[in-house]
Amino acid sequence: MQVRVLDGLAVTGKRVLLRADLNVPVHDGAIADLTRLERLTPTIRELADKQARVIVCSHFGRPKGKRDAAMSLEPVAVALARVLGRKVTFAPDCVGPAAEQAVAALPPGGVLVLENTRFHPEEEANDPGFAAALAQLADLYVNDAFSAAHRAHASTEGVAHLLPAYAGRLMQAELQALDAALGNPVRPVAAVVGGAKISTKLDLLGNLIGRVDALVIGGAMANTFLAAQGLPVGRSLQEPDLHATARDILGRAGAALLLPFDVVVAPALAAGVASRVVPVAAVGADDLILDIGPASVAALQSRLSDWRTLIWNGPLGAFETPPFDAGTTALAHAVAEATNAGTLRSVAGGGDTVSALRAAGVVERFSYVSTAGGAFLEWMEGRSLPGVAALS
Ligand code: 3PG
Repeated sequence: MQVRVLDGLAVTGKRVLLRADLNVPVHDGAIADLTRLERLTPTIRELADKQARVIVCSHFGRPKGKRDAAMSLEPVAVALARVLGRKVTFAPDCVGPAAEQAVAALPPGGVLVLENTRFHPEEEANDPGFAAALAQLADLYVNDAFSAAHRAHASTEGVAHLLPAYAGRLMQAELQALDAALGNPVRPVAAVVGGAKISTKLDLLGNLIGRVDALVIGGAMANTFLAAQGLPVGRSLQEPDLHATARDILGRAGAALLLPFDVVVAPALAAGVASRVVPVAAVGADDLILDIGPASVAALQSRLSDWRTLIWNGPLGAFETPPFDAGTTALAHAVAEATNAGTLRSVAGGGDTVSALRAAGVVERFSYVSTAGGAFLEWMEGRSLPGVAALS
């Protein structure tokens, strides 16, 4: 999809409404990860350095259309100022007099953050009047929130039809990386899909079959595929209702679908619990399958030299609880090495995936790690993202 980008755009003195994704993770009241803010800085710097008046808007959490002090963007604006190393002002509302006054006071080259768009129910309803109220704050609209582009909300979609609309540098980078991974990949291309449930990834698997040369299944999802073939999975998490679906996917994917042939089992999911490695045919009645086994990881590692592109969504085991992070970590390191050696383009995304890759210390060594969770999944499902479509 062709989107308009910032190249050659005259912004000097213009008011630019920048839809960012300031929905940063918060633990115990503190911002737990600054990645989304860091990845936003190239667009803000570029616009501000060209003397635009940069008006940043975003949602934060799910306040359901009501003001909620715990979901105010004010502390996020403070963190953004620190990350940018520039002054950032804040408006206590995203539309109406408070926003208008703050915009009027914004000098060329200045940066303003507006309060959480989701404090207004009209945001998620994509209300035309609310979109118009946002649009009247600015001359141009720039969307840098790929991670919110699966939402057809006023600030991600509606407003894009009311102002000249462009993709910011982060949106542009996300779209380029994703296109290189699945749109027009260098082949052979492999997808690694993990996570707990097939039921949440049916559309994704359906879209990948036929588009990728290898489809690696890990995580508890793999248990359903194993059980559907009559293999024992003990007390492991699996979805008995989806055995027929799993068999259908196996039939359609054929030899492209790669399942673990050995697994790590334990009597409970607890840190440091005694675990064993067993072939998939030897899982005991009381066992829980908690990670892909080392022989399966080694087999995937040896396949890496065949593949030119790899796209990864979902961990291969219960990675939050050591030692069940071992399979994900080992494959992540091998992917990072092949990437650094120049033989593989590696793209990963999805909330848990990024946490797992961060824990493995390989985020900087992949070709591209998306900032998106749900939007990455919907894109992998082959769906059109309203926030992207509105920029084309
Ligand atoms: C995300 O964190 O995935 C985005 O900010 C979208 O948030 P949402 O799922 O609340 O729309």
